[in-house]
Amino acid sequence: MILPIYVYGQPVLRKVAEDIPVDYPNLNELISNMFETMDNADGVGLAAPQIGLSVRVVVINLDVLSEDQPEYKGFRKAFINAHIVEKSGEEINMEEGCLSLPGIHESVKRSDRVRVKYLDENLEEHDEFVEGYLARVMQHEFDHLDGKMFIDHISPLRKQMIKGKLNAMLKGKAHCTYKVKTLK
Ligand code: NI
Repeated sequence: MILPIYVYGQPVLRKVAEDIPVDYPNLNELISNMFETMDNADGVGLAAPQIGLSVRVVVINLDVLSEDQPEYKGFRKAFINAHIVEKSGEEINMEEGCLSLPGIHESVKRSDRVRVKYLDENLEEHDEFVEGYLARVMQHEFDHLDGKMFIDHISPLRKQMIKGKLNAMLKGKAHCTYKVKTLK
């Protein structure tokens, strides 16, 4: 089922999300709805707060990039109770967008290497180092679980430049092809 995506201004996007118990009801259905919602909006990642649920669940699809980056062929994964344990490596600037911030794209500096802990869809524990584009997407998505958005990482000047768009979103104006839930 395709769910509406909560956009900037929705308080759930600013809450620190909770870990879920392993017997969390309808987890498989939640994950499948999140994949469907992300695919419908042409996203590469979606975090549960973006569909209004303050739990630490994220889906990522990098298969769409596999033409240029073959290592991501078939990469469609869910991350449960996801946490970043450490950030290292070079800080790299790259333009980002977010399904909860339609129409906004800004350059964001992030670490090139992170250590992450999470459960996979089979509830198996992982503790691993991740690099490159996946590390960037994970930092973006896992930020959502801590109530952060990518615009928190941009300069006050850039923030000033996009203020009009942000204010429009607060008033319920979001221009995108997918269904959204604005504050008003
Ligand atoms: Ni996002």
